[in-house]
Amino acid sequence: MHSDDGARTPMIAPSLLSADFARLADEVARVADADWLHVDVMDAHFVPNLTLGRPVVEAIQAVSPIPLDCHLMIEAPERWAPGYAEVGARNVTVHAEACTGDPRDVARDIRAAGALAGLALKPGTPLERYEDVLRDFDTLLVMTVEPGFGGQAFMAEVLPKVRRARELVAAGHLRLLVEVDGGINADTIEQAAAAGADVFVAGSAVYGADDPARAIAALRAQAAGAA
Ligand code: DX5
Ligand code: ZN
Repeated sequence: MHSDDGARTPMIAPSLLSADFARLADEVARVADADWLHVDVMDAHFVPNLTLGRPVVEAIQAVSPIPLDCHLMIEAPERWAPGYAEVGARNVTVHAEACTGDPRDVARDIRAAGALAGLALKPGTPLERYEDVLRDFDTLLVMTVEPGFGGQAFMAEVLPKVRRARELVAAGHLRLLVEVDGGINADTIEQAAAAGADVFVAGSAVYGADDPARAIAALRAQAAGAA
């Protein structure tokens, strides 16, 4: 966990959404050099897409050499989120917009089940509304596309939220990792790194590359150079 701006090491989290779902174990092995494996859980209600749930995450956990970063794009996250911690995910992120009660209650339950707790914000959701709540979270996921699909264009207009979050961390008001998700690739990662992100989710930029390991190393070097 980083609490200031000194010597941040960028983390790369390939998104399995862009992998071949018929060969998940092989696809996980191809990104073993990454820091976290980002797993997008979608319920066809919170977002207009359906992916996978706890049984598949549990199966991935069993074969993954790197920690799982579960991004829950689902309704009723308070009901389902702790289950992903129970199967061993390192970080479990819920959407602020999906929480019906106080997101801090969900954070508490995720942590009690053994994982880091993350809060995600859609592009149009203001950070200000959650600045206090975020004191109880370990990660903040700033969406840089509308959640639901891989391969969309990066929304640079969201970067002020990343900058504000970085300021809050640097000032000691928050103690969390700032994660960006959506449209991160060789053309956009430097902007996100300069704005202050710590964790970079990349789906198509990693799985669409001929050599995912090489793509991960290149993205990491770019982020480190721009931070
Ligand atoms: C989108 C997902 C992302 C997605 C990113 O809703 O949350 O994690 O896989 O894919 P790219 O990197 O292709 O934008
Ligand atoms: Zn995601």
